[in-house]
Amino acid sequence: HRHLLGIEGLQPTDISALLDLSENAIEVSRQVEKKLSTLRGRTQINLFFEASTRTQSSFELAGKRLGADVMNMSVASSSVKKGETLVDTAATLNAMRPDIIVVRHHAAGAVQLLARKVGCSVINAGDGAHEHPTQALLDALTIRRHKGSLQGLIVAICGDVLHSRVARSNLLLLHAMGARVRLCGPSTLMPAGVERLGCDVFRSMKDALDGADVVMMLRLQRERMHAALIPSTREYFRYYGLDAAKLAYAKPDALVMHPGPMNRGVEIDPEVAESTQSVINEQVEMGVAVRMAVLDALAHHLPNGDAAPGSSE
Ligand code: CP
Repeated sequence: HRHLLGIEGLQPTDISALLDLSENAIEVSRQVEKKLSTLRGRTQINLFFEASTRTQSSFELAGKRLGADVMNMSVASSSVKKGETLVDTAATLNAMRPDIIVVRHHAAGAVQLLARKVGCSVINAGDGAHEHPTQALLDALTIRRHKGSLQGLIVAICGDVLHSRVARSNLLLLHAMGARVRLCGPSTLMPAGVERLGCDVFRSMKDALDGADVVMMLRLQRERMHAALIPSTREYFRYYGLDAAKLAYAKPDALVMHPGPMNRGVEIDPEVAESTQSVINEQVEMGVAVRMAVLDALAHHLPNGDAAPGSSE
């Protein structure tokens, strides 16, 4: 693959290979000297049209740990603000001869469009409610390290599924790897007909969490809702917020996950987020490793891009 646009299109063998490569990247990241030369001389541009803490900073660190020159394009102070279109922005950046562009955009499909307009590799860092493939990969890596395998696990994904690219990419990945996915949330925040994707859909957290191996909470994405449709925090937390009482329905060793950023007291009780079952900070560490693995894998497909010595593969 020249690009990573989504989990859709990846085979289980591709996913396993990326997770295996990520294990090497964890080792590198835990050393005092963290630098490889896989992307030495290469240019990576991070182009984020939406806010990000985890994804942007981990892509920056991942690129730097592989030796790339990383440029963070500041969209807020760019000519996008003067009305330059996505396609014109892409053509402008392409003329500067980057090797990899990492893109986050509020519109589903925008990253695919951009990939058709540039000559370099493109990585989707989240496009609208469509996909966030590196999030699903880092979640899978976190789960695999705790549970050994994804095959046969019951994973409950709960909350604002409607607006969640994280849920969609996770659903695709988890199904590909043989896990069973349960979705849970109010009907107003559940995509119509999502059962057709082969998951079980629940309205009640008690039913959704019963015997689950993993409980993945989603952020209530209020910024994507009409003001009149935003649920009250108190009511939402009562029915859909993960507290100790609801978590008790899951297996005693169930993992608690959240992609971040968290709304404490909305979709998750702070005590649960900080409990021994929570792997939320570990997900962040895995994020750097997975992004190193993705960049490393793409490096082998860059023009004239045989990996330099020091590659972690
Ligand atoms: N999980 C995630 O994508 O977080 P950021 O929005 O902070 O990148």
